[in-house]
Amino acid sequence: MASKRICIVGTGYVGSVTGAVLAELGHHVTCVDSNPEKIKLFAQGPPFPISEPGLPDLILKHRGKRLFFSADLSGAIADAEAIFVCVSTPTKTSGIATGSFDMVYVDAVARSIAEHARGDVIIVEKSTVPLKTAERIEEIVNGTAPAHQRGKFHIVSNPEFLAEGSAVRDALKPDRVLIGTRPADEFARTFMNELYAAFPQEIILHTRLWSSELAKLANNAFLSTKITQTNAIAALCDRSGADVTEVSRAVGMDGRIGNKFLGAGVGWGGSCFGKDLRALIYLLRHFNLEHEANFYQAAHDLNYLLRERFVRTMHDSLYSLANKTIAVLGFAFKPLTDDIRDAPAIDIIGMLAAEGARVRVVDPEAGMKVKETFAGKPGATNIVTVPSATVALTGADALVLLTEWDEFRRLDFTIVASLMNRPAWVFDGRNVYDPAAVVRAGLSYYGVGRGVLRSSTFHEP
Ligand code: UDX
Repeated sequence: MASKRICIVGTGYVGSVTGAVLAELGHHVTCVDSNPEKIKLFAQGPPFPISEPGLPDLILKHRGKRLFFSADLSGAIADAEAIFVCVSTPTKTSGIATGSFDMVYVDAVARSIAEHARGDVIIVEKSTVPLKTAERIEEIVNGTAPAHQRGKFHIVSNPEFLAEGSAVRDALKPDRVLIGTRPADEFARTFMNELYAAFPQEIILHTRLWSSELAKLANNAFLSTKITQTNAIAALCDRSGADVTEVSRAVGMDGRIGNKFLGAGVGWGGSCFGKDLRALIYLLRHFNLEHEANFYQAAHDLNYLLRERFVRTMHDSLYSLANKTIAVLGFAFKPLTDDIRDAPAIDIIGMLAAEGARVRVVDPEAGMKVKETFAGKPGATNIVTVPSATVALTGADALVLLTEWDEFRRLDFTIVASLMNRPAWVFDGRNVYDPAAVVRAGLSYYGVGRGVLRSSTFHEP
């Protein structure tokens, strides 16, 4: 396999992992970023600016040999056969196209590529983008490049499906490699096949550009609404006495549905699901598909309502939140990452503190982000970060599990109960604890879709 010269623009989760994995596949990769501090850290670390299992090993294995970090965007573009656009596409929060992706960074990268690329060059859309972005990129590069370079740009959509915490593993062993190209662009298809020659042929899927762009949005819409459907059933379980974990087990044994992403709790967070769902809703409305947009809008809104409802359940169980000491276990949006973007914990802690609760937060990776997150917000003085679950739980009235890190899953409730006040509650926002073990230890339990089990009325069956 011929080694390719690749430039990665943007060293967030997607860019840094893609760069390291392409180096592992044997290619010569230069990663660039407009933030010189980030590049310096990648070039000199550890520590690295991104916390992702397996990433440090790959960087250290290839750095200086086939993997380079540079702030020189024009040089890296000029030297590359393929440029991967991995810059962020955040939700646009005001003005025209509010709710869609903000394309300001993609637009700027396209202009730099037009200016500095040499010869036939592949432009790979890796960031999640709105439908028909390829057309816009083509327009920009062909419109602004020097005359001899026009027509030499090959746009490819190659979306990334990696999940944080398992990103390196996902990228090294993908379910599929999706490659969207123009039907006539044999050059791009051959290049991408060679780039991914190390992967089994059967997982390489060639489609039209627009199908590939949309598949990424559809994929995340399926996953997020699958979780939200489970949470809708969980609400009914809370009212009716059914247990959502049993319902999910039964439903997940249907091979057509599958047993993943059926976990009820405080709902999904992270940088992708909300952003992609909002962009899909925007897109549907743009094409006057109001009913379809409403379907996703309802799922989106329900996910965020869960956070409020969870705090209400806490309030009703504790009678009042004011002056209660609450141990919040977990701040990151999921385990194995320090990423707190759209984390349910941010909203939930904010609501608890605003109600006058004294909140102690512990998270093995994201704990240091608590202070800056709430600085200047209502109730900020009620929130502290503590180094361990033991410190958080000593003298606490409630334990709230929001991120299911292994160390929080493995708690011994006889010890937990000995540390906490009485009466004390466990609010299991991820449904990981055994309710019977909790109440046996003398604590009351609430799990989302598992109802309330009070220690005072609990009798061994
Ligand atoms: C997601 C997609 O999985 C990935 O393919 C895409 O490229 C980016 O978005 P990520 O955001 O890293 O990845 O996390 P993911 O593991 O999908 O979890 C998202 C959220 O859903 C987390 O907050 C998690 O706690 C929650 N979740 C997950 C549930 O609430 N229930 C579940 O059963 C599974």
